[in-house]
Amino acid sequence: MEPVIPDLRAVPREDAYRQLLEMQALLLEDSTDAIAGMATTATLLHHAFGYLWTGFYRVVEPGRLLRVGPYQGSLGCQEIAFGRGVCGTAAAERRTVVVPDVHAFPGHIACDARSASEIVVPVQNARGELIAVLDIDSPVQDSFGEADVAGLERLVAWFARTA
Ligand code: SME
Repeated sequence: MEPVIPDLRAVPREDAYRQLLEMQALLLEDSTDAIAGMATTATLLHHAFGYLWTGFYRVVEPGRLLRVGPYQGSLGCQEIAFGRGVCGTAAAERRTVVVPDVHAFPGHIACDARSASEIVVPVQNARGELIAVLDIDSPVQDSFGEADVAGLERLVAWFARTA
């Protein structure tokens, strides 16, 4: 039987990410499959923190187009062009983007009206190519801080083992 995902909302963020990193490492220890990694990582984060939407947009046309990949939560939009919205900005600039208030982000793509803050983290494979972005939408403003940037960047470092 698979382990139950703990509710980490009341746990200090550093401890929470430590637990999630351990679970991710155990669950994916025999895998080098990017889709399995995306599905497992999205599920861990989504249920541990109770977000609105947690998942991956995959690079299907490098430098041009992202398409939705494994995710948990409400319906996400299917495709996002590089440079558009928070996901497209993070992909085009290959950097983590934190948006404390989505209503103040010009060009934010609202897939769910309840979304209030967001973080998007670029994901690279073994060759250092951008293969996806991890996108998390929260119903609470200002949900993401330094500990989230550090924790999420460590979680997506798992993808450095994928082809
Ligand atoms: N808000 C994102 C779009 C994706 S979803 O909300 C699932 C953006 O602006 O890139």
